[in-house]
Amino acid sequence: MKTELSFANFAGIETELLAVLATDTQTAKGPDIKAQPVLLSNDEAVKAAAAAVLASGEYKAGANETLLLHAPAGLAAKRLLIVGLGKQAKVTVHSVRNAAGTAVRFAKPRGIRELALALPEAGVVPGLELPPGPCARAAVEGAFVGDFDPDTYRSDRKDLSVRSVTVVAASVVDQDAVKAGFAEGIIIGESQNFARTLVNEPGNKLTPTVLGQRAGQMAAETGLKWDIFSTDKLHELKMGAFWSVSQGSEEPPALIVLRYDPPGVTEGPVLGLVGKGITFDTGGISIKPADNMEKMKYDMAGGAAMLGAMRAVALLKPKVRVICIVCAAENMPDGKAQKPGDVQTAMSGKTIEIINTDAEGRLVLADGLTYAKSLGATHLIDAATLTGACVVALGMINAGAFSNDEAAFEKFQAGLATSGEKFWRLPLGDEYADQIRSEIGDLKNTGGRWGGAVTAAEFLKAFAEETPWIHLDIAGLAWIEDKKPYIAKGPSGVAVRSILEWVRSYSA
Ligand code: BES
Ligand code: MN
Ligand code: ZN
Repeated sequence: MKTELSFANFAGIETELLAVLATDTQTAKGPDIKAQPVLLSNDEAVKAAAAAVLASGEYKAGANETLLLHAPAGLAAKRLLIVGLGKQAKVTVHSVRNAAGTAVRFAKPRGIRELALALPEAGVVPGLELPPGPCARAAVEGAFVGDFDPDTYRSDRKDLSVRSVTVVAASVVDQDAVKAGFAEGIIIGESQNFARTLVNEPGNKLTPTVLGQRAGQMAAETGLKWDIFSTDKLHELKMGAFWSVSQGSEEPPALIVLRYDPPGVTEGPVLGLVGKGITFDTGGISIKPADNMEKMKYDMAGGAAMLGAMRAVALLKPKVRVICIVCAAENMPDGKAQKPGDVQTAMSGKTIEIINTDAEGRLVLADGLTYAKSLGATHLIDAATLTGACVVALGMINAGAFSNDEAAFEKFQAGLATSGEKFWRLPLGDEYADQIRSEIGDLKNTGGRWGGAVTAAEFLKAFAEETPWIHLDIAGLAWIEDKKPYIAKGPSGVAVRSILEWVRSYSA
């Protein structure tokens, strides 16, 4: 998708479709109270073109509600699309992101390959603060996110992707902020889609080896240093936990290591990004039921999120060192597969009694976290589709977040306002850790039915040890079950933006 930025009046934009945003300014509530949709534009011609339909009461400017007008009088655009941001009190920059995605997804099935997105103009609605730079960034991100469809392997696939999006800012705004936001939005939107493309790949196409190749290719393109290791290296590093998961598969594991070393930065924190890269999770000997097992191709979404974030880091160049580790393996049942009751020795030296071979994510991450520390990471963040229990707890609305460090978590939390993603912090605690104590060894890899997301996090904490660490359980959000106006059903690319913001918060 080509993107352009234009500082111009909306009415003069020659385009197949001009998308203009609107919000419902009605604050009163009651049975007879009607919506008060207001266009976020000062352009007289645009306002005039939309006046009749806005006055009709047919359109309420609800979040992502669209209304199309053909051949709008007084505009150079062939079509005017009004996209709702919802009630004014709830409008944020993130509403703009979704509205941009909605506009792109409106265009795609209609064969409209080129469109313009009008950024909200300041001062139209008193009290509505939508800073132009962040809005430009969000609009571009939303456009990229909206453009993605998962139909890669359809033989009748019609490439309906949008060829070109022009972001239009009316001339009065801070142009430098808009330019910067626009440039960032391209990098971040493309990086999120990079992660989604990986998550979308089926297990037979994207083996651990192939995931390693894709990561290496991305690293080469963006100037990151990289190493892709396999079985020998796992043995050399004594990664008994990681290896135990891969031992039941014909596919060798991949230990993906990416490094971002900005010139001149020799002091300060070293961030360790660790991702779960299970390219397919059958459950192993503790095999999963057949229903929905096909979904377990997305069990590498945490790893993909880290790779997406690294791509954005490489291109946005924050002043902080970053190491990324993705532990990629296939969890399969086999004559050589690990069994319940087996005891594994992790890289850290801790021993793990395997209770359930389906609790494999924490095993690969345990060694990933230890390895990141051994490479010098001073602060850790991991992302994983780790537990069904997290989905039970938070549904598909919030992803789970855990941390052993208030300062690191505060930085993460602060970035959510920018990323627009939803994470909800869940507790940790010694009483939970008791649930994963083993009789025969140090730890059990499952803690029983109750508090499953927390005991999984406690397991990881035993490997993060004293290093400040954040754990993101994205099991419920990595795959979108129901399409939305602004994003297709399928891989979401969740956590890419939030991890990136966390990294940037450490930039010197
Ligand atoms: N990959 C799954 C978790 C998962 C569930 C991801 C649903 C996405 C959607 C993970 O490896 C797993 O199987 N976890 C088990 C742990 C249990 C055996 C302690 C689970 O959640 O059931
Ligand atoms: Mn599993
Ligand atoms: Zn898994």
